[in-house]
Parts: sequence; structure tokens; C-alpha cells
Amino acid sequence: MQERKQVFITRMIPEPAIELLKKTCNVEVNMEDRVLTKHELISKVKGKDAVLCLLTDTIDDEVLQAADRCKIFANYAVGYNNIDVESATRRKIIITNTPGVLTDATSDLAWALLFAVARRIVEADAFTRQGKFKGWAPQLFLGQDITGKTLGIIGAGRIGNNFARKSKGFSMRVLYYDVKRNFELEKDIGATFVDLDTLLKESDFVSIHVPLVPDTRHLIGARELSLMKKTAILINTSRGPVVDEKALVDALKNRKIWGAGLDVYENEPDIEPELLNLSNVVLLPHIASATFETRTKMAIMAAENILAVLRGEIPPNIVNPEVIRK
Ligand code: GLV
Ligand code: GLV
Repeated sequence: MQERKQVFITRMIPEPAIELLKKTCNVEVNMEDRVLTKHELISKVKGKDAVLCLLTDTIDDEVLQAADRCKIFANYAVGYNNIDVESATRRKIIITNTPGVLTDATSDLAWALLFAVARRIVEADAFTRQGKFKGWAPQLFLGQDITGKTLGIIGAGRIGNNFARKSKGFSMRVLYYDVKRNFELEKDIGATFVDLDTLLKESDFVSIHVPLVPDTRHLIGARELSLMKKTAILINTSRGPVVDEKALVDALKNRKIWGAGLDVYENEPDIEPELLNLSNVVLLPHIASATFETRTKMAIMAAENILAVLRGEIPPNIVNPEVIRK
């Protein structure tokens, strides 16, 4: 009988995925509810055939080198900027992600942030709880209309595309910017492809849906924020470093833009301290994919990628197919 393969999971994930892996593999799960240190990670990946890792694990060259037997790192996320893919490819280690299953959850959360900021939901809730509601008032918590406004999408991949389509219920004009055209989106909802400056100048709401790569780091900085309308709202559910967080603080503080909704931060989990004192920003702890259904689907998807590789097959969600061509 063939020896059972060794799988390491860097933190507790939904049970069905662990059960699935346990049918054919020996599975070790880090049961401590925290991110492993680099040292711990290095010692745990040694001798494992597969690793299921999270976006909070930095999988750099050193970790990959320590993973001497490992055939795959299956990331429990769609974004994989936490992994040195180039080094993995060199070491013939397959990297996979979890696209598709979290598209709706992420775009729904971007909408939740947009509504929360535009209609000042969080501020108004705090006000009510503090016993300050003394009756309907004509000037109480005035916000921004959403219906009929112009929506600017930066990055029209799976998530940006889904987010854009959901605007149809609000009769919005949709502008988008990407490195490539999305003709289907143009045809289906009349979205208009524009350059980034035009998008920033004309949009009432700007939502970011690009992966973090060298070209998108600080894609939105002081200059870009200065192009936005004073009444505009910026939403970021992608990766923090896409926005220059210090420049964003300045724009929010000095009312160069009206508000922002953030699920991700430049130096996560650290947050620019000044953001915490501003009332025109809604701050979430990176929860875009955090629904019972979606997290389970992500976990199963990551497990299935591992099982495919351990059977000698090409996994469905490989991000570095060059590995198998070499
Ligand atoms: C979450 O941020 C993900 O990339 O899945
Ligand atoms: C990620 O899933 C994207 O393409 O937006």
C-alpha cells in the first residue's frame, strides 16, 4: 500500500475540507488561533507533501526552500501576493488559489461598504446607541445619493465585473479601467472603458478590484486622490498597498474626498492611526470573503487542489502552470 501523504494546514479552516483531506492523507493543522512565525512555518513545512496556507502566511524563498518534499502550496485566498511564485516555480512547487467561489461575497461586501459610507450607517448607529436620537431632524446624517450616480471600477476581472453588474439595480453609469478591455461588460451593462484619470475625475464612487502586483502598488496616491470629486467615495476590498494609506488619510482629513470604505490596509494588521479618528471612513478587518458558505467553498477548493496534485494531476486552480511545462 502506498504511504499516506503528509499535509500541513497553517491554521484552522472549515472542517469539511479537513475531513476531505483526511480520507487519503495524514493531516496536521496548526490549532493555535494565530499566524505562525516564520521559524515555526519553516519547521512545519519540512517533510510535508502539501501545504494549505493563508494570505497571512508569507511564503518566501526561505519557506519554499525548507519545503523540501512539497509539491504544492494551496493558498486559501484568491490573491496570492503573499507567495513568492517565481521562487516556487523555480523549485517546481505548484501554487494554487481560490478564484470564483468568493466573487459574490467580496463584491457584496464592497457594496456594503459603499452603502455604509454613502449613508453614514456606522456613525448613525453609534449615535443611536449613545441615546442621542431625539427625533427626526431635517439635517440629521445627510449622506450621498447612490441611485443614478457614476460608478468607477478599477480592475474589471471576476470581482470588479460582478460588482459592476450589481449596479444595474441602482441605474448607475459605469466607468471602468483595467489593463485589458472587458467587452462583455461593455455590451451587457453599457460600461465605458476610460483611462484612470478620467475615471477618478468623473466617478462618484470608485471601487478597487485589482490584484497587488508591482504595477498596482500605490496605484492610488496623492495625485490620484486629488483628481477625485470632493463628494466622492473610495472603496477598497482588494489589497491595502494599492492605496497610499498616508495620502488617503490626508485626503479624508482635509475633505479632499467625501469618504472611504476599507477592508484592507497597507501594513495589515496595522492601520494608519489617524484613520481610527476619522468619522468619514468605515474600517473592516479584511472580511470580504467571510461568510459561512464562501469560506467552506474556499476550503474545499484548496483541498481539492491539493488532492489533485497528490494524485499526479494538474490542479484546477494552478497559478504557475510553467511548473508543469518545465
Ligand atoms: C482575500 O483577500 C483573498 O484574496 O481571498
Ligand atoms: C479575482 O478573482 C478577480 O479577478 O477579481
